Amino acid sequence: MTVPEITTAAAILRAGGLVAMPTETVYGLGADACNEAALRKVFSAKERPFDHPLIVHIAELSQMNDWAREVPPTALRLAEAFWPGPLTLILKKQPHVLDIVTGGQDTIGLRMPRHPVALALLKAFGGGVAAPSANKFTHISPTTAAAVREELADKVDLILDGGDCEVGLESTIVDLTGDVPVILRPGMISAEALTNVIGIKTLVSRQENPIIRVPGMHHLHYAPVTKTLLMEMKDIPVFLQSLQINDLPAAVVTYHQLEGQQIKHIHHVQLSNEAASYAHDLYRTLRELDNQKFKCIIVEAVPASSEWDAIRDRLSKASAG
Ligand code: TXA
Ligand code: MG
Repeated sequence: MTVPEITTAAAILRAGGLVAMPTETVYGLGADACNEAALRKVFSAKERPFDHPLIVHIAELSQMNDWAREVPPTALRLAEAFWPGPLTLILKKQPHVLDIVTGGQDTIGLRMPRHPVALALLKAFGGGVAAPSANKFTHISPTTAAAVREELADKVDLILDGGDCEVGLESTIVDLTGDVPVILRPGMISAEALTNVIGIKTLVSRQENPIIRVPGMHHLHYAPVTKTLLMEMKDIPVFLQSLQINDLPAAVVTYHQLEGQQIKHIHHVQLSNEAASYAHDLYRTLRELDNQKFKCIIVEAVPASSEWDAIRDRLSKASAG
């Protein structure tokens, strides 16, 4: 990434345009978080309902106070421990924060990403950048610049190509506005990791967005178009046999190693048995399989241990259709 590209990108943000930027989690669709017209463009590009609030991205700890009217000690400790990095803090908002950013709530989501391109852009721009994942509403988040182009092409003024996203899943979101910290969206920073830093037990909520009360609404997230099924390893062969002979083939994604005989008549994708590496590859894999128009995508259920929490969460959403 060249300095002129960053300068151009910052100028686009200042002029109320949209810039897709790489972060370590997924690509974001960035706009000036103080520009209502620019923020409207974000929602229309994504075809996202207005009641889904946006995360504001910042480059300096001192900017927390520009957006949050209260920064409790737990927030500061978490920011110092995990920023820049894949953690979003929900705090009480400053009065000036636009309703379009917060979905009309009294809270604001803040994150300092660690991708060098995102940080360079945030520093060059100077203010907060509201950036949801750079995909159409309910689609899988993009982890490459090519995936952003596939999703939003002409809807964005500039796509900064920062390569493959290192983490591959969206940030952990922790709400610090109540009596106890609550994880609204699991990510690769676990509840234990947060608890270890603040010394307070962190709870895990089942509701990512507190104002979306429609049952099952958030389950529409992160889904491939192709029917996606989550299955225990032992059930996969039986299921494959039940498919009609002349059906289009199914794709099978596993973390267990499969043997030659088992993968003879299927399109098999081997992912890692290590959570971080699995997370890194998951969205790119689902996106590629989705584009190949299989009859269905079968994903082996992942381990129940806590390091797989975020992956399990996204897989259950991807297969909830
Ligand atoms: O890793 C990430 O967080 C990526 C990168 C681009 O930073 N961003 C991202 O944004 O995933 P988005 O908009 O796709 O998801 C943000 C989630 C939404 O589910 C939204 O409801 C929730 O964060 N959120 C944002 N502000 C909130 C708030 N004030 N209270 C509760 N939830 C909030
Ligand atoms: Mg998203």
